[in-house]
Amino acid sequence: MASKAFAVLEQEAGLGEALAGRDLCSIADLTPAEVAAILDLAHDVKSDPGKYRHALDAKQMVMFFEKSSLRTRLTFETAINTLGGNAIFVDQTQSPLGERESLADIARNLERWVSVIVLRTYAHETITEMAQYASVPVINALSDLEHPCQALADFMTIQERFGTLKGLRFTYVGDGNNVCHSLMLTAAQVGAHCTIGTPKNYAPKADIVAQARAIGNITGSDITVINDPVVAVNGADAVYTDVCTSMGFEHEATKRAPIFKPYQVNEALLAHAAPHAVFMHCLPAHRNAEVTDAVLDGPQSVVFDQAENRMHAQKALLLLLLGGAKLGK
Ligand code: CP
Ligand code: NVA
Repeated sequence: MASKAFAVLEQEAGLGEALAGRDLCSIADLTPAEVAAILDLAHDVKSDPGKYRHALDAKQMVMFFEKSSLRTRLTFETAINTLGGNAIFVDQTQSPLGERESLADIARNLERWVSVIVLRTYAHETITEMAQYASVPVINALSDLEHPCQALADFMTIQERFGTLKGLRFTYVGDGNNVCHSLMLTAAQVGAHCTIGTPKNYAPKADIVAQARAIGNITGSDITVINDPVVAVNGADAVYTDVCTSMGFEHEATKRAPIFKPYQVNEALLAHAAPHAVFMHCLPAHRNAEVTDAVLDGPQSVVFDQAENRMHAQKALLLLLLGGAKLGK
């Protein structure tokens, strides 16, 4: 049962019930108000974790991962364990989900045993299909298309640093990949201005850019996609990059390396950002490829705050998806 403090928070936000039982396949599944409520709760969970110690007593969370993970796996496990629940990890790296039996049949089994399903997959459709069939919440822990839990922790980190997100200048340079997609959508939802600088042919997907711009029209966020990394970083409050070759694209590493070289975040590129700018990376980093040691280990880097906040943001997410008044969809 949720603690009194949690119940009060839910009531204040007025969103606990609205989020209970919902899925998080894409960050765009949430409204701007729901993103704000998750971030508010994440800050409270971080400042007073003891208050939530039994909020999800005995809840079972299952995690199927088709790809490797350090942060996502361990932050989900520590999150549910310290809320009173339990994690069951299934290594799915040797065969894709849905190969041995259909996703629908897996979903119909899982919903009889567990309260939430967390998936890390290649195909985004594996996650949306599981969500379609399972009566319990399904959470995207990274697909080829999106990484919504990462983006929640990242904007929590920026909020922690700058106090506000609205009007902030957020820049992402590098591959227009899963992390880039979720960051762009989240920037739009929180009203931050977002500039993406990518090589030609590596831009974020046009439909996700359009989705972010549609959200931005409501929240006042400008979404800009360009090719010049220096122009992208100019005056930014936060500069973010990710690997040039995501999991599943390793065979393109040699081809991509020279294309992405001008996008490396080094001290010279970061010097174009605002003097108070933070450097961000979801990790794991390929040191001295997309970012230099000097920047990653330098005074502007907040990468380990981001990693820590994965746990707090996911605690907030689990509390809202599982802790609402009405469980089950
Ligand atoms: N940032 C992130 O998702 O890290 P892992 O791949 O280690 O989970
Ligand atoms: N874009 C990277 C993120 C890893 C956390 C990948 O998908 O491999």
